[in-house]
Amino acid sequence: MQEVLNIIRKRQSARIPFDSKRPVAKEDLRQILEAGRWAPTAHNMQNFDIILVDDKKVLDAIGRIESTVSETFIRENLQQLSFSEEELIKKKVGILGTIFPPTWRTPGYKPDKDTDSRKPIQTSPILLIVVYDPGRRAPASEGDFLGIVSLGCIMENMWLMANALGISFHVVSATSTDLVEKEIKSILNVPDHLKIPFAFRLGYPVPPATKYPRVRRDIEDFTHLNRFGNKYKDFQDLRSDL
Ligand SMILES: Cc1cc2nc3c(=O)[nH]c(=O)nc-3n(C[C@H](O)[C@H](O)[C@H](O)COP(=O)(O)O)c2cc1C
Repeated sequence: MQEVLNIIRKRQSARIPFDSKRPVAKEDLRQILEAGRWAPTAHNMQNFDIILVDDKKVLDAIGRIESTVSETFIRENLQQLSFSEEELIKKKVGILGTIFPPTWRTPGYKPDKDTDSRKPIQTSPILLIVVYDPGRRAPASEGDFLGIVSLGCIMENMWLMANALGISFHVVSATSTDLVEKEIKSILNVPDHLKIPFAFRLGYPVPPATKYPRVRRDIEDFTHLNRFGNKYKDFQDLRSDL
């Protein structure tokens, strides 16, 4: 059981370029997809398809898609950022601002076409694009809320398996913004009625991934006993650092 918890704790995002010459072994890829295959989904609808993109030309075309960062994104993202490790540790939620590209934290920043956020996709040996049909919603699930939760389960299963195999994983959710989604659909011949909630890059970072500060609330910060607001304090002595 401790092993499962360790894999869960060690899972992390890799927002850095990968070694384009080091492919993900077919057997490893199969295991990652097998983990996704067995994810729980509402009503066992298995509401997803996955497009595997390893063709350099296609990766290049996707990597070159112009993705503008909206004012709303920058404003709301800023609320999640800390600008020092001390601030992050105190807050226990969010992300250290400096690990994001300047486009995500600086209003009006103009990205350099050949660097910044573009290279990660082009250097990835493989990009997996998740698609789903919002028209086939889980029964009576307004906005297909349950279907979207299911997609999260699929993401997590594959992420855990990839990291357990020593393969880095980076979620790219910009695929769900209207313009990016439209262009990816056109490049990959995805039918119009389908949505692309997220994609993820798999690979081996160059230079090797270094540790970055990750924080979580303590268990008693989010548990309530029998009624909301009655904080559950019995796990206070079980804190552990990442
Ligand atoms: C639904 C979802 C969407 C995400 N989208 C992105 C993304 O577009 N880009 C990115 O770098 N990380 C993305 N992430 C990763 C989160 O930022 C990350 O999981 C969180 O900051 C915790 O860090 P950790 O993964 O290292 O534990 C996403 C995660 C989830 C669950």
